[in-house]
Order: sequence, then structure tokens, then C-alpha cells
Amino acid sequence: MIAKKSELVKRKKSTKVYDPPTTLAFITPPCKTDLVQRDEYVQFVEPHREESAERIPQEEYDQLVEPYREAMTRLEVRMNGLNEDYRKKYRDYPIHNIQARIKSRKSIEKKLVSKNLPISAFTAKDNLTDIAGIRVICYFVEDIFSILTLVKNQTDLLILKESDYIHYPKESGYKSYHMVLGIPVYRIEGMQYYPVEIQFRTLAMDLWASMEHRICYKGETPDEITDAFTNYSLELSEMERRMKHLLDEIRKNNPQEPMQ
Ligand code: GTP
Ligand code: MG
Repeated sequence: MIAKKSELVKRKKSTKVYDPPTTLAFITPPCKTDLVQRDEYVQFVEPHREESAERIPQEEYDQLVEPYREAMTRLEVRMNGLNEDYRKKYRDYPIHNIQARIKSRKSIEKKLVSKNLPISAFTAKDNLTDIAGIRVICYFVEDIFSILTLVKNQTDLLILKESDYIHYPKESGYKSYHMVLGIPVYRIEGMQYYPVEIQFRTLAMDLWASMEHRICYKGETPDEITDAFTNYSLELSEMERRMKHLLDEIRKNNPQEPMQ
């Protein structure tokens, strides 16, 4: 119990949630047009308290994710553009690679069940902010904060939530910087913001998170393994710090790296 409580405090420290503007269509409180549709829909959907066979019909899933896919692609293109500009301007390579994914139908259903919500495209739209996600893998922590500054200067994007698990890592040792951004998507009816979760990590943090997900994800994890991962997180951070030092030393003699 004590461990849980301290994690909560940490997470609170790490996370800022911003008030969405009233024009926001996707997020709670939902816009009025959605309410009408949702009320009609809810008549057919009973709330689910545990694992259930109820599914979001494929057609509704496809319709639900379509604008999220567009928002995700727009953000991915923007991030690639920023990386390219940064590369040309500073002869520096902050981003190693970018991954993008749309949450599968099964994962959406699973998450709604875990949040004790009815399984429907409407509840997904109103309650989930990670239907679209991109992951930006950088070389070093400094790169993450350089890129973050660029992202925060993009005046057309809304910052809805920020979680700094780099300065405030999770108890497990998980480190990353998360943001939920509102990305404008244009349709005949007008513009709506759709949320895209963006996770910034270094290569070392990504190694840790991928291995931890693979090894600790399923079932009960023995304490020795949990402790080992907490230590690996510290060791990887230290290794990364030393590598950054090596790069800084090299740059002293050769301030501008050649274009790659
Ligand atoms: P949920 O999205 O409902 O989990 O809660 P949240 O919005 O508070 O999310 P959080 O900021 O904790 O980050 C969620 C995502 O970060 C997950 O889907 C994972 O990709 C990643 N993540 C968070 N904690 C861990 C962790 O301990 N280990 C690993 N491997 N990944 C994590
Ligand atoms: Mg999330």
C-alpha cells in the first residue's frame, strides 16, 4: 500500500494536465453533438464491469480511428520536418527514429474494460487519449529537451497533458517524457482537435522499456526481477551519461559533425 501511495505522489509531481478549450471535440466534457449520438447509442450498450465478449464492430472501429490516423500522420510528418530543420541548422542529429501506431480494436476494448467503461466507439473517443501514439527515440536526454522546445513552439498544436518521467521516473525505473497533443483535423463540418500521445525516449530508455515490457508484462513478476529492472534503469542512465561525455569530448575538437 505504501509503495502505491508514494507512486501516486510521484506521478502527480510528474504530470500536468491542461484545461482543454471549449472547442475541443474529442475529450471530456464531450461536445453537444456527441452527447446526442452517445445517448442514443448507450441504450444498446450495457456497462461492463469485467472481461466480456462485447466488441466494437469493425466498421465503427474503422470510422473511429480514421481521424486519429490522420492526426498521427500529421504529427509524424511535423516531427520529421523539425528533425530535418534541426539537422540542417545545427548539424546535429537529435532523433534516432520515430514509430507510430494506432491502438488496435482489441487494445481499445481491453482498456475500456480496465476503466470499467462501456465498450463502444463513443466511450473510446471520450475517454482515451492514446488511440493514436507516436514514439520519438532520441540519442540523449538533452536531445529530448531540445525537441520538446521545438514542439512547444508549434502554435497550432495544443498541449493537453505532460508527464515528465525523466526527472520523476516511475518506481519501476520507467523513464520517458509523455505529452498528449491536440492535433487539428479538418473535415467538411470544420476543424476538430484529436489527441495524439507522444512519448520521447532515449535509445537507452527504449531498450529498458521494451525489455521490461517483454519480461515483466505478463503475470506476477518476482521481486528479484523488479529490483533488477530498477537497477538496470540506473545503469543505463549512467552508461548514456558516459557516452554523452565521449561525444562532447569529440565535439570539442570537431564542433560540427559532418552531415549524415
Ligand atoms: P494509461 O495510459 O491508462 O496506462 O495511463 P496513463 O495515461 O497515466 O499513462 P502513463 O503516463 O503511465 O503511460 C502509458 C504508456 O507509457 C504505456 O502505454 C506504456 O507505453 C508506457 N509505460 C508507462 N509505464 C511503463 C512501465 O512501467 N513500463 C513500460 N515498459 N512502459 C510503461
Ligand atoms: Mg495513456
